Amino acid sequence: MLSITLTDLENILKVEGKMKELLAKYDIPAPRYTSYPTVPYWEETPKFEQWMSSINSTLSKKDSSWSLYIHIPFCETLCTFCGCNTTITKDHRREAPYLEVLLKEFEIYLKECPDLSKKPLKEIHLGGGTPTFFSPENLGNLIKRILSKVVVSKDFEGSFEVDPRRTNKDHLKALYDQGFKRVSMGVQDFDEEVQRLVNRIQPENITKDLTLAAREMGYTSVNYDLIYGLPKQDLAKIKVLTQKTIEHRPDRIALYSFALVPWIKPTHRIFKDEDLPVGAEKRELYEYSRGELIKAGYVEIGMDHFALPTDSLAKAAETGELHRNFMGYTAHRTDILLGLGVSSISETPDMFHQNEKKLPIYERGIEEGRIPTLRGHIHTDEDKEHRELILKLMTRWEVELSESKINDLREYLKSLIEDELMLFNGSTLKVTEKGTAFLRNICMGLDMRLRSQHPDRKVFSQSI
Ligand SMILES: C[S@@+](CC[C@H](N)C(=O)[O-])C[C@H]1O[C@@H](n2cnc3c(N)ncnc32)[C@H](O)[C@@H]1O
Ligand code: SF4
Repeated sequence: MLSITLTDLENILKVEGKMKELLAKYDIPAPRYTSYPTVPYWEETPKFEQWMSSINSTLSKKDSSWSLYIHIPFCETLCTFCGCNTTITKDHRREAPYLEVLLKEFEIYLKECPDLSKKPLKEIHLGGGTPTFFSPENLGNLIKRILSKVVVSKDFEGSFEVDPRRTNKDHLKALYDQGFKRVSMGVQDFDEEVQRLVNRIQPENITKDLTLAAREMGYTSVNYDLIYGLPKQDLAKIKVLTQKTIEHRPDRIALYSFALVPWIKPTHRIFKDEDLPVGAEKRELYEYSRGELIKAGYVEIGMDHFALPTDSLAKAAETGELHRNFMGYTAHRTDILLGLGVSSISETPDMFHQNEKKLPIYERGIEEGRIPTLRGHIHTDEDKEHRELILKLMTRWEVELSESKINDLREYLKSLIEDELMLFNGSTLKVTEKGTAFLRNICMGLDMRLRSQHPDRKVFSQSI
């Protein structure tokens, strides 16, 4: 017997047609909201004294804690889809000097902010580039020397990003010995054609073997970074990617939308328009994968993350502790996120600070004994208010609002409400099931800086 009637079928088709229309209508440039205000709207870069005083006054608060992000920019080869700050080189003689520069930068902070060595360090995340460009010895040494200067929190979490093609068991061991229990692997897609087109040949068994090795060693959380929307990716390829991922069963999955930003990354220009899935076709890839991951027992966390219910990210989402910062979703919020290394971003409750993006300028600054600031932002009270509202929406799919805000959004986001992508339940703005694809668009209603001045050039990737 047919379980779907003709009317049901007609309705499904109508919904699909309507959804396609909506995806086309709202596929506009939009921030990813890992921060608020978003980087193009930063103004009033803090002076050195202001930056240090913000860290010191935050640390002086009772029960304050901090976390550390360390950026290692080197990669041996360039993946053409990449949007990260990288330095491509095969010269491993660059490891040792960069390691010393990182430690020197940390020394500057310790000298100016002595409480950093007294307040608990909750988290270290090594990102890149490719942190495992460093030899296991150098990686272990870097962390050992940092940890020897601070108080490590009892619930300390150490995590790092790896390119499985450049990572071996000794890398895993060197950081496991320093208390690291979480590893994030760049996978992107298992399909060979896609891998060839993005200059990243990574046979599946490399990822699989590293996953098994990490598990055997005692790593409690393995993350896979996947991307949808890469050249030549279609539904058939996403099905295979999702199936293989489910078989490997990482604890966390980041399923990123390919951020195409050719005006920033020239290598993005080599992709042919006709090879790139966009709009509804692109979103379909996400929706398919999302459905399968949920069926396989994963919980959807925020915009593009999934986790097994046993993982701390899923638990944080359930208890309302989920946080979002420059690294994406995290299970904990600390008062200070201190970023070391070229291009690293730091934050306190009052301001943002970013290091120089160009490696020689960053290195020269540190060698001269100063923090090489590229830019930053001192929050106004209004920024702080909107930052919290956007953060709640990004981590909980809903946010409580004042009456005047509701009235404002009823007007500003009128068409999203009419299209049933969001609704108001009393004083709570809720993203509807249908509206999850449009979270970035909804957040734009709370982004008062963007609303007051739309950028006059391309700065953000498309929202879908
Ligand atoms: C620093 S890389 C990860 C570590 C390592 N370098 C690797 O690629 O295996 C961080 C992640 O950012 C994501 N990423 C990079 N460029 C991107 C882009 N243009 N759009 C979406 N995601 C991107 C990839 O999923 C990548 O794994
Ligand atoms: S994706 Fe990873 S390995 Fe590839 S260039 Fe970017 S940072 Fe380097």
